[in-house]
Formats: sequence, C-alpha cells, structure tokens
Amino acid sequence: MTGPADAGGRGGAALPTGWRLHAFDTVGSTNDEAKSLARAGAPHGTLVTARIQESGRGRRGRSWSSPEGNLFLSAVLRPEAPAARAAQLSFAAAVALAECLGAFLPVGITIAAKWPNDVLLEGAKVAGILLEAESGDGQGGWVVLGVGVNCRHHPEDAPYPATSLAAHGAVSPVPGLVLRAFVDRLDHWIVRWTREGFEPVRRAWLGWAVGIGGPVTVRLDRETLEGRFADLDTDGALLLELPGGVRRRIHAGDVHFGTGVGGS
Ligand code: BTN
Repeated sequence: MTGPADAGGRGGAALPTGWRLHAFDTVGSTNDEAKSLARAGAPHGTLVTARIQESGRGRRGRSWSSPEGNLFLSAVLRPEAPAARAAQLSFAAAVALAECLGAFLPVGITIAAKWPNDVLLEGAKVAGILLEAESGDGQGGWVVLGVGVNCRHHPEDAPYPATSLAAHGAVSPVPGLVLRAFVDRLDHWIVRWTREGFEPVRRAWLGWAVGIGGPVTVRLDRETLEGRFADLDTDGALLLELPGGVRRRIHAGDVHFGTGVGGS
C-alpha cells in the first residue's frame, strides 16, 4: 500500500460538509482500508479512494477488476440503525450513482438499477456496490460502503456484461469528478433515509429499476429459482413470485432477466 497521497482530493467540486477523503495510490482493497479506519474509530463520512486496487472485491466472493482510470471508493458510515437496516444504504448508493452518472454521459444513454445494487448503462454493468459490516447488530456500529465505477475500463470476462462511462462517450470520465458527484447525491439520500426511513429510497430505486414485473432467474448459493420479480419489499428484499403464486423473499442472490438463464 502507498499513500495517503492526497487528503484533499484531485480537483473538482468540494465534498459536502462532514465528508473527508483519504486518497491512496495503490491498495489491496479500499474496503479493507476503510474497515481498518473504522475499527480505529474513523467517523461517519470517512472516504477512502485509490488509484489502483490490487485485490478489489466484488459481491459473492468475486474479484473486482481495478485498473487505473476507474473509481474505487469506500465510505465509513455510522448509521444509527441495526446492521440489517443499514444494508438498505446500498440502495441509497445505487440511487445516488444512477442520479449522478447522467451528467457525464451524452443524452439518451439509458441508466438503470439492477437488484440488488448494480447500475447499468444500456443494460451492461457500469458500477457495483459492496456493503460490509463487522460490528454486529447493535446500534452505533459501522458499515463500509464500497463502490466501484468503470470510468475508463471494463472487464471483458465478467459474469454479467460490463461497460464503462468511456465506452458510452463520456466526456470527462475522471474518477475524482465521479466521486464528488456521487458523494453529493449519497449525502442527500443518507439524510433522507435517516429522517424518513427506507420508503423514499425504495421509491427512488424503483424509479430506476429494470425488470420489475418481468420474468427473472435468481441464483442463490444452493438453488436457482425462476419466477416473476413482483416487487422490492419494504426492507430491500426481492419479492419473487414463484409459479403457482407463492411469494418468496430473496435477500442475496444473482438476478438474470428472463427464465432458463441460471447457468452463468
Ligand atoms: C459488485 O458488484 O460485485 C460489487 C463491486 C464493488 C467494488 C468496489 S471497488 C471499491 C471497493 N473495494 C473493493 O474491494 N470493492 C469495492
């Protein structure tokens, strides 16, 4: 690990009040750096970014391609809520990403949110979110919200088709600019979630969501289910309507649109 390289950030607009950036050059994973800072008492709003991640992590034990030119950001958050509810912040982050990315893109590019926490451009994944918590279920704990945005590069061999801002004609897909635009919206949504609960976040997420009401295949650890994506439940679970009408709440899994696509 090298750094911190630049505690003030690399140009662009200021961060909202209460956010502080630790910018590193090369790290294993910004989530690991942020977790170390959280364990050492770093306050809510501590941000960690890096130019390169050598072992970036994705959801479900996957690796996250992390070349220079993309955004790797982790935020220490200390919500006054149990860990189960704090997981809703990943939906707030998905909404914040969906809202901010349009400013970097030509008009007409379709931005969408895919359950649970992916952001898509024209149907391909441009950003992912990894929320990690270690401090149990008590109040006053912390979570680390990790966000990766493919600004200039995207992997060709990802389990889901991937893309980047640059591939869609973004004019200035600069990680530092995307970071500031994102944190601005994230700050807004965390304030609303804290004051009003999950419902406004849920409604906003549904406004960006793709696939609601349609057929989906959901891959879980030990089984693959096919059904209809009936709704996003009031706690963020995917409500899957199985053939026959029984509804099942899904808390973690991989979603593919359509049926008969559970193999990849
Ligand atoms: C996913 O869609 O699988 C989640 C990807 C999360 C990647 C980000 S990059 C910054 C932070 N550090 C990591 O190691 N992972 C997250």
